[in-house]
Amino acid sequence: MSQQQSLEIPEEVKEQYFQIKSSTVQDMKDLLWSMKWNKEKDLQARIRELEEELQHLRNSKKYGLVWDSEREPEQVVMDCQTKLPILEEVKERKIISDDSWDSNLLIEGDNYHALQVLSYTHKEAIDVIYIDPPYNTGNKDFIYNDKIVDSEDTYRHSKWLNFMEKRLRLAYDLLKEDGVIFISIDDNEQAQLKLLCDEIFGENNFIANICRKTRSGWWAMSKHIATNHDYVLIYGRDKFLVQDFFTPYDEKYLKRYKEIDENWRYFWDTFIRRRIWNNNVYKIKLPSGKEVSDKWNLREEKFYEMLKVWDIRIIENWENWSVQFKQRMWDSWKKSWSIINDFNNTQATEDIRDIFNDRAFDYPKPINLIKYLLQVTCKWNNIKVLDFTAGSGTTGHAVLDLNKEDGGKRKFILCTNNENNICEEVTYERVKRVSQGYTNAKGKEIEGLGGNLRYYKTAFVKVENLQEVTDEKKLELTYNAWELLAIKEWIYNERLKTEYGQVFENMHDIVAVYFKESTRDLAPMAEELGKIQAEKWGKVILYIYGNPYGLEAFPMIANLELKDIPDPILKVYREINKV
Ligand SMILES: C[S@@+](CC[C@H](N)C(=O)[O-])C[C@H]1O[C@@H](n2cnc3c(N)ncnc32)[C@H](O)[C@@H]1O
Repeated sequence: MSQQQSLEIPEEVKEQYFQIKSSTVQDMKDLLWSMKWNKEKDLQARIRELEEELQHLRNSKKYGLVWDSEREPEQVVMDCQTKLPILEEVKERKIISDDSWDSNLLIEGDNYHALQVLSYTHKEAIDVIYIDPPYNTGNKDFIYNDKIVDSEDTYRHSKWLNFMEKRLRLAYDLLKEDGVIFISIDDNEQAQLKLLCDEIFGENNFIANICRKTRSGWWAMSKHIATNHDYVLIYGRDKFLVQDFFTPYDEKYLKRYKEIDENWRYFWDTFIRRRIWNNNVYKIKLPSGKEVSDKWNLREEKFYEMLKVWDIRIIENWENWSVQFKQRMWDSWKKSWSIINDFNNTQATEDIRDIFNDRAFDYPKPINLIKYLLQVTCKWNNIKVLDFTAGSGTTGHAVLDLNKEDGGKRKFILCTNNENNICEEVTYERVKRVSQGYTNAKGKEIEGLGGNLRYYKTAFVKVENLQEVTDEKKLELTYNAWELLAIKEWIYNERLKTEYGQVFENMHDIVAVYFKESTRDLAPMAEELGKIQAEKWGKVILYIYGNPYGLEAFPMIANLELKDIPDPILKVYREINKV
């Protein structure tokens, strides 16, 4: 017998061995159960997820516009997480051509940044927006993230929609509640734009898709069909507050109503006789005394009533006679058509050539188109008009022209980037020439239309994090916000500037900003404001950094409005950039 065989295993070791063995078996069993259970749990969780997704798909829109918005976000939009847009005035480009205290504005820069600024300064303050964005023809007209989008780009529609969506959402908030937006577009993006606008402005606020004839001649280069129209898509911020659109009658129509009496214009029209359903059979007496009987389309009593007041006349000429009535023009305006034949692109090129004696800009719109659109809205002649794809500045020109024609006080805000120096050399130069006068392409002196202009460039205050802006950066923003405050209040003329504040004035009112953290210099500034106000008797709007005061702190200023700065600006930027 070997030593091994004779080895006795102690009882307690045996016990331990069995315990370990049985617990391991149990563990294994548990493990298997848990794996099965977890698998089941995972499966159930996944089923739940899929169900939720299905539900979400069922709830989300079954119809509408879908595009790839994430693939290539726009850099200018992402920049706004750490760059706060402001404006810097280029003072030497100020145009003063009349002695009013008013001014129109031209902003050079990316319109996404300009629209952010305007979201603070002009929220719900604009009556009419006209834009003529790149049509995305694939022919070098649309630039996205500094690259031309050509027809080979598979995401060209997505890029264009990203671009437009961001800007139209901001534009929506700038419109007054009865405001209107006009957007020129052609078949490249019309369908997409319509759906996008339905989403942003609401399908209920769609007013019309006007079709504009763009060229009069036949176009040999065209393929399949000679397309000679584009569109103007029109939405109201709230369509039910927007008045009907009317157009004045044209010259030819007006000429017909050549007579005039105390009840307005008319012409003599032939009185219609013989109507099948007509029972008005009676005799009338001709000037010669001869009586004729007929079926008339007026009761006898009414006929003689009109004859008496000279609204009907009877003409007799030998054997011939006729009855005529006054066909009246009851209104000098008619409901606008959804087709425009009158303002084509050839005119637009001539408009530009007339000013620059050169083509100067590739795709302008005709002045008369914009004038027409501004007129059909039947809005007052003191409206505020915005164009954030201003190009050669046609919208500004149209506003100045209309003001000259009817003595109106419409104002414009134009924004365009400086691609190929357009803003400086075309937009600005055009407004300057037409407001101050110029010699046209035929050598004729053209009188200036008047109107003042201030030129701004977009700039930035850089921050680490838009959510938590440091006090130092808030002070920097306040110090650089004076242009924003001036344009917000439409009061631009600098009266004084000190190291602690700035004051702007117009004929009656004053806007001031106190931009120091320390309040030491606030009292002297308030004294100064009180003195300036005594000259004008208008209101004073005082912006104070982090304003902790009530009106009682400024007894020296009579008609005072206190406003906080810069938190309201930051609030707007945070809302837009969703932080
Ligand atoms: C078709 S043109 C507008 C023409 C204008 N309606 C006219 O009559 O001259 C479009 C203009 O939008 C400008 N634009 C395009 N993208 C822009 C952007 N992101 N910011 C500012 N302007 C932009 C272009 O520079 C171009 O001048």
